[in-house]
Amino acid sequence: MKLVLAFVNPEKIWELKKRLFEIHTPGISVDQVMGIGKPLARMAEMMERHGAIPKFFPKMRIEMVVPDEMIEEVLSTIQKVCYTGNSGDGKVFVLPVEEAVRIRTNERGEAAIQ
Ligand SMILES: Nc1ncnc2c1ncn2[C@@H]1O[C@H](COP(=O)(O)OP(=O)(O)OP(=O)(O)O)[C@@H](O)[C@H]1O
Ligand SMILES: [Mg+2]
Repeated sequence: MKLVLAFVNPEKIWELKKRLFEIHTPGISVDQVMGIGKPLARMAEMMERHGAIPKFFPKMRIEMVVPDEMIEEVLSTIQKVCYTGNSGDGKVFVLPVEEAVRIRTNERGEAAIQ
C-alpha cells in the first residue's frame, strides 16, 4: 500500500474527486491548507536581493491510501485533471504504508482498504 499525498488547486477538487471515484479509489481525505512551493528563479532572486518573502497560496491537501497496483492510475488521473502548465499546479508525494486496520471488522492490510 502507498499513501498518496497531493497538494492541488482548490478549483480542481470536484473534478478530481469525480475522476478518482471513477477509477475506484478506496478512500479520500481532504483539507484546505496554505502552501508554498519552490520559488521560481525570479522570486528566488528577489528573496536573495531584497529579502522578499514568498506568499502562501490556498491549496487542497489530499490523502489517499491505495494498493500498490493503483499508483500509476492515481498519479495519471491527478496529473490529467490538475495540469494547466502554470506554476502552482501542484505536487504529489508517494509514501509507503505499513499497515491499515478497518476498525469495524478488524481487517488488516489491503483487505482493510478494499
Ligand atoms: N517540498 C514540499 N513539501 C511540502 N509541501 C510542498 C512541497 N512542495 C510543494 N508543496 C505544496 O504543494 C503546493 C503546490 O506546489 P507547486 O505546484 O507550487 O510546486 P513547485 O515545485 O513550486 O512547482 P511549480 O514550479 O510548478 O510551481 C504548495 O503550495 C505546497 O502546499
Ligand atoms: Mg510553485
